[in-house]
Amino acid sequence: MAALGSVKLMRVLGIETSCDETGVAVYDEAAGLLGHALHSQVSLHAEWGGVVPELASRDHVLRLIPLLEQALADSGCKAGAVPVDAVAYTAGPGLAGALLTGAAFARSLAWTWQVPAVGVHHMEGHLLAPMLEPRAPRFPFLALLVSGGHTLLVDVRGLGQYEVLGDTRDDAVGEAFDKTAKLLGLGYPGGPAVAALARDGRPGVFDFPRPMTSRPGLEFSFSGLKTAVLKAVESAGPEAAADIARGFEDAVVDTLAIKCRRALEQTSLDSLVVAGGVGANVRLRARLREDCNALGVEVYYPRPEFCTDNGAMIAYAGLQRLKAGQADPARFGARPRWSLDELAA
Ligand code: KG4
Ligand code: ZN
Repeated sequence: MAALGSVKLMRVLGIETSCDETGVAVYDEAAGLLGHALHSQVSLHAEWGGVVPELASRDHVLRLIPLLEQALADSGCKAGAVPVDAVAYTAGPGLAGALLTGAAFARSLAWTWQVPAVGVHHMEGHLLAPMLEPRAPRFPFLALLVSGGHTLLVDVRGLGQYEVLGDTRDDAVGEAFDKTAKLLGLGYPGGPAVAALARDGRPGVFDFPRPMTSRPGLEFSFSGLKTAVLKAVESAGPEAAADIARGFEDAVVDTLAIKCRRALEQTSLDSLVVAGGVGANVRLRARLREDCNALGVEVYYPRPEFCTDNGAMIAYAGLQRLKAGQADPARFGARPRWSLDELAA
């Protein structure tokens, strides 16, 4: 990372291509989010029942230029002029090919415009996404990061000062939603489909386990819950699908809420930030709001569209990294596996 010197009031282009969403956004330090454009590949992958990495990469390549044009137009950037002061892109973790499409595109733009570029950690993007909202959290806070690939409780003291307090031993919570959706014969992505079906289900008909809540600690495990769902589907049949979905969602929400409460008590932090795709779940948001009210803790969420992958969070996180004096030299790779713990402050 090279020092940039003191740069003021920057405008940053953010590019997200780590998985199955292509996101491009412009964030201005003074004016906030100026424009953001997003393309979801859900229909592309739906017939395969999950993300096909090679199809994802190819689709990112097709979408990036139209989305860039849209985001720049929405942001009122003048044609011909260099529109931004820097380019931020998701450098990892994610699918290697998908990451490389965004990195190559971002690096090329930065080179053409002769502006700095910075590679952003995808989970740091999620972590900071609530700061895009008018009611933004301030450091320090506890973060619950719940996505398709991660289930993390993080003690956040400042930019890059992250201590992972709890992680999953097996499936991530979003993955558990996606696998449960498959068992219930629902489409991909599973989270929204399971949540929609659960609305028609009765609570308490299926009382699934709350994994790892009866012993101390902040670790998660969701693979056993998936097995419990499988047994329920086998014994009760497809007509019980709504009740099973409700039982599953209640078990997940309860488990996450119990661990959040425990982590808040352990750290004495008085703010909770919830981010990542599963953070869009209505029942989880309601439950955490209720629990936090009772505990006197402030809870912060991004709007649901910024819980799932998007370019705005990458532009915002990139801006913070640039302001901290970081920019990456003009070469790039991809880090499909990258622990949040490895980030420097
Ligand atoms: O953050 P994200 O868009 O991508 C990753 O970084 O993984 O999260 C995607 C995950 C998927 O597993 C999806 O099923 C889940 O978030 N998800 C939800 C909801 N919306 C998305 N899970 C539960 N309820 C939702 N409303
Ligand atoms: Zn994500």
